[in-house]
Amino acid sequence: ASPGDVPLTARLPGAPVPMNRRHATHKGSYGDVAVVGGAPGMAGAALLAATAALHGGAGRVYLAPLDAALPALAPTQPELMFRRPAALPLEDLTVVCGCGGGEAIRDLLPQVLGGSRALVLDADALNAVAADEALQRQLAGRAGRPTVLTPHPLEAARLLGTGTAEVQADRLRAATELAQRFGATVVLKGSGTIVAAPNQTPWINPTGNARLATAGTGDVLAGMIGAALAAGHEPMTAAWQAVWTHGERAERWPAHRPLTAGALARC
Ligand code: APR
Ligand code: MG
Repeated sequence: ASPGDVPLTARLPGAPVPMNRRHATHKGSYGDVAVVGGAPGMAGAALLAATAALHGGAGRVYLAPLDAALPALAPTQPELMFRRPAALPLEDLTVVCGCGGGEAIRDLLPQVLGGSRALVLDADALNAVAADEALQRQLAGRAGRPTVLTPHPLEAARLLGTGTAEVQADRLRAATELAQRFGATVVLKGSGTIVAAPNQTPWINPTGNARLATAGTGDVLAGMIGAALAAGHEPMTAAWQAVWTHGERAERWPAHRPLTAGALARC
């Protein structure tokens, strides 16, 4: 897929992004996403990310669970294709890695960092990178291949070797420093999510609200970014469009009802 395959009538931050698909296209035009995560007890995180990638417009979505029991959940989202992580054609895929990954995600990271065409690293994948210098070097060495990191403030603090209070005291600086250090696009989550990329002006998201403060909304965001990357958008664009839309969905949600991550994924 190339960026031209998905014409957007609005590309500027702050504007809604209409779903626009050209006539003479097919599922291959919109890219393939694979979600790797979902350790035992955390199946939902991987399912949420995969569901969000589907609803985000990805052409095909694979789910490679770390919990062997997860395929039993296949009927809950029949569009998903279940694979063993080792069976994924990584070089053709946008991989969303980490959602509910637990400690087991660590062993898959060398292969995912080395092989994937494009990559979103979230949650336990970020924690594994923070704890391992060899993985940090491998991440920085992806140079040129699209890579988006989606830390919440504690995950960002671990990656920077500092504390959450320091990150929150200067969020722009923390996001910019992470982007520079790893040569990746960084989405520093929380109220006023920041998107930063090496040598680019960072961007502060104006959408969203505290309805998003419920478990799983971060997994949904990772899946949405994965779909935008798979469609061929460059990482900064993919990240801000997904972040903007994720927040906007929360703003549109009826005031009298709590939002759930599953509903957010399917908006
Ligand atoms: N205003 C705006 N956006 C918010 C707000 C708020 N008050 N609160 C949360 N959000 C958004 C964040 O910006 C982010 O996009 O919701 C999302 C939350 O993402 P995460 O912090 O990654 O949380 P999530 O992963 O969904 O929660 C599951 O619980 O058991 C833990 O470690 C586990 O990380 C896992 C987490
Ligand atoms: Mg999270």
